[in-house]
Amino acid sequence: MALLTRENGHARLDLPPLEKVPTHVAIIMDGNGRWARQRGLPRSEGHRQGTENLRHIIRAAVEFGVSIMTIYAFSTENWSRPRREVRLLMRILEMMIDRELQELYDEGVQIRHIGELNGIESRLARKVRDACDYTRGNQRLILNVAFNYGGRDEIVHAVQRIVRDGIPAHAITEATISDYVYTSDLPDPDLIIRTSGECRLSNFLIWQGAYSEIYTTETYWPAFDREEFHKALAAYGKRRRRFGRTDEQIDAEYRLPGQA
Ligand code: FPP
Repeated sequence: MALLTRENGHARLDLPPLEKVPTHVAIIMDGNGRWARQRGLPRSEGHRQGTENLRHIIRAAVEFGVSIMTIYAFSTENWSRPRREVRLLMRILEMMIDRELQELYDEGVQIRHIGELNGIESRLARKVRDACDYTRGNQRLILNVAFNYGGRDEIVHAVQRIVRDGIPAHAITEATISDYVYTSDLPDPDLIIRTSGECRLSNFLIWQGAYSEIYTTETYWPAFDREEFHKALAAYGKRRRRFGRTDEQIDAEYRLPGQA
């Protein structure tokens, strides 16, 4: 059941409580270009609206009680886009830091970066580092911004550091790799959302996403609003996560003490 309420003069759907909120949600924000094309607008307008939408979804994540959100803002493959678009995406990140940092800080958001800052223009790289330092003490929502990020690249870097640290082959386990990826101190994503109807991971969190639930929607990212986000979290609440076990084992786990 959804009720219509008013907040700051705007109509707003009041949403039912969620049965189970995922701790870590990762999002592939896809479809900015198609959203713009559908409206006869330039791709840049799609990215602008996508950025605006990201502001709302970050706030919705705080509202719904998500603890960690990882967003795919710029992949290692995105360098092959037209130079103008690459420059625009860099500028968007810089603008977001300039305009949103204080508000995000005030809302308790801790900003982290995952990916390589090497190769990013030094002024932007410094801004990213400063934003991470500034918000380091915040605990309400950890926002991992995957920028110049690639999952394979991440694994290559992890392996290089493992070798550099002199860890012998026989001592390397899955836990070792998990300790060396960018998200080493965080739980793996429970839910990966991809907008715009594509059903691929596209090199996003390929190590961490091994057991993530995946939710896809036809909606383009700029139109993926608070209600759609809530729908994705509600769908997650209905999934049974088995982690390789059988349904019977899961049932036994959920059986109350004393029940046969
Ligand atoms: C994919 O849509 C989107 C991106 C490559 C960029 C995502 C960026 C934002 C949502 C803006 C926020 C950005 C930062 C840097 C914080 P697409 O352009 O591939 O869309 P298409 O597949 O329809 O062409």
